[in-house]
Amino acid sequence: MRTDHAHTRTEALRLVKVTKTYGPRAAEGATIRALDDITLALPTGTFTAVMGPSGSGKSTLLHCAAGLDRPDNGLVMVDGEELTDSTRAPRSEAALTKFRRTRVGFVFQQYNLLPTLTVAQNTILPLKLAGRRVNRARVEEILTQVGLGDRLGHRPDQLSGGQRQRVAIARALVTEPSVIFADEPTGALDTRSARDVLRLLREAVRAHGRTVVMVTHDPVAASYADAVQFLADGRLAGHLPAPTADAVAERLAHLGDDVRTGA
Ligand SMILES: Nc1ncnc2c1ncn2[C@@H]1O[C@H](COP(=O)(O)OP(=O)(O)O)[C@@H](O)[C@H]1O
Ligand SMILES: [Mg+2]
Repeated sequence: MRTDHAHTRTEALRLVKVTKTYGPRAAEGATIRALDDITLALPTGTFTAVMGPSGSGKSTLLHCAAGLDRPDNGLVMVDGEELTDSTRAPRSEAALTKFRRTRVGFVFQQYNLLPTLTVAQNTILPLKLAGRRVNRARVEEILTQVGLGDRLGHRPDQLSGGQRQRVAIARALVTEPSVIFADEPTGALDTRSARDVLRLLREAVRAHGRTVVMVTHDPVAASYADAVQFLADGRLAGHLPAPTADAVAERLAHLGDDVRTGA
């Protein structure tokens, strides 16, 4: 284990000069700079919303920060420990997977539950994959917390979208990760289910000290966060603490103005 950044333990996530390009696609010819020199630090126990136009690099940012993808350049640290550092030999795929399984949780827009597994089985999957002991009582407690204590034996196709996403949140919580990444977790949900999901994410931060990073298009969803980080063309484009839905909508409307006018 590389532990030479122990002084940053109160930081859940740090990115330093992270760049990610995608190779030329035949039709376009040019390289796509999905992330362009991103430097960012998030304190432990905070809830951050990431917003920006489609294609601005939000998902790439989450994937690189979560170790689902490797940046071309730069440093990613989770919990004071290097996940990727372009100046060192890369971690093996196995080491990266192990790090990811213990330190981060990921919630996707389309739930990504396994259809043949029950609610309980889907929830404990990360523990099984990591070869960790399963504490049944703890799993039931987590599923009760997300309002699914009476659904342990149901399969995903017997659940609503909101319920499926709550299973996905339980699955992300079960390993007690430092950082939970959520990529448009309410994008497919009705208003009420979305609110349930947002409250659960906020509760994970408030009551359990988790750090949440959530991509969203919705100013109301963003208002559940402690701060919004805006992204435009793969670059950071502003930060809004204590966001209200109105303030977020206002910022989004003007995002990229300074880029367009060359200011
Ligand atoms: N696997 C990939 N291959 C090629 N280009 C990609 C890939 N993933 C993302 N991109 C490109 O990178 C840019 C950022 O994408 P993405 O991070 O998905 O943006 P967002 O989530 O903000 O919509 C876009 O131009 C997108 O087309
Ligand atoms: Mg995306």
